[in-house]
Amino acid sequence: MTSYEAIFTRRSVRRYDSAPLGDAELADIQAAIDGAKQLPGQTGRFIIVNADTLKGAPSPHAILAHGEDTDAALSNIGYVLSSLDLYLQSKGYGSIVMGMAKPLEPAADYRILLAFGRTTVPVRTGEADFKRRGVADISNEDNAVARAARLAPSAVNFQPWKLEFSPGKVTVKYTPNGIGRLLAGKMQKIDVGIITRYVELALEHEGKIVTAVTPDGTGKNFGIEVGCTEG
Ligand SMILES: Cc1cc2nc3c(=O)[nH]c(=O)nc-3n(C[C@H](O)[C@H](O)[C@H](O)COP(=O)(O)O)c2cc1C
Repeated sequence: MTSYEAIFTRRSVRRYDSAPLGDAELADIQAAIDGAKQLPGQTGRFIIVNADTLKGAPSPHAILAHGEDTDAALSNIGYVLSSLDLYLQSKGYGSIVMGMAKPLEPAADYRILLAFGRTTVPVRTGEADFKRRGVADISNEDNAVARAARLAPSAVNFQPWKLEFSPGKVTVKYTPNGIGRLLAGKMQKIDVGIITRYVELALEHEGKIVTAVTPDGTGKNFGIEVGCTEG
C-alpha cells in the first residue's frame, strides 16, 4: 500500500501489541524519518524512543517531535508526522499522534509524539468510515484533492482548516473556532501541517508537480500555500 492509499484506510490506533518491533523494522522506520521532507527552512528533530521513557503512551514505541515554538515550526512537525503516520499505516503498523502522552523527561523543545507499534485493530474500509466535515464545508472546490485532504486527522477531530483552490496553488487556511482553540491550542498549527501533507500527496496522485510548500502569516492568519504545476 502507498502512503496515498493509506489516507483512505488509516485510523488513530489506541490498542497495541506490547512486544517491541525488531531491529530491522525499527531501522526501516528510522530510514523513513531520515527521508521525510521538512518544510523550507525547518529543522525539526524526530527521535524513536521506547515506551519505558514515556507516560500515557499505549504503544511499545513512539517518535518524539522537537522544534521551535512558532506556527511554521509546529506546522512542520505536523507535516512530518503526517508523512510518518501514513508510512507506518501503509506498512501495516498502528500509529497515533498524542498530545496527552509525554516523555518522562521532555527536552525543552519537545512538542508532541507519534505512538506506534503492532496492532490487531482493523484498518478502515473507506471514506464512509471517517467522521469528518463535508467537502463543501472545508473547500471552495469539490475535487479529488479536497476529498482526500478532508480525511486528515486533527486534535479532538476539530478540523481547523479551509482549502482554497486557485490557479497554480492550494492554500490551507487555519480557521480557529473558540472551543477548538481553547482545547487544542497550539496543536491546531500541527493540524494545519498534517492536512498540508495530505494536499501534497493528493496533488501528486492527480499527476501535479508540487513546486513549493510555504507557511505564511501567524496566529489566526496562519496558512500554508502549496504551489503546483501540471505534471
Ligand atoms: C495534534 C493531535 C493530537 C492528538 N492527541 C490525542 C490524544 O492525546 N489522545 C488521543 O486519544 N487522540 C489524540 N489524537 C487523535 C485524534 O483524536 C484523532 O486523530 C481524531 O479524532 C480523528 O480520528 P482518526 O485519527 O481515527 O481519523 C490527536 C490527533 C492530533 C492530530
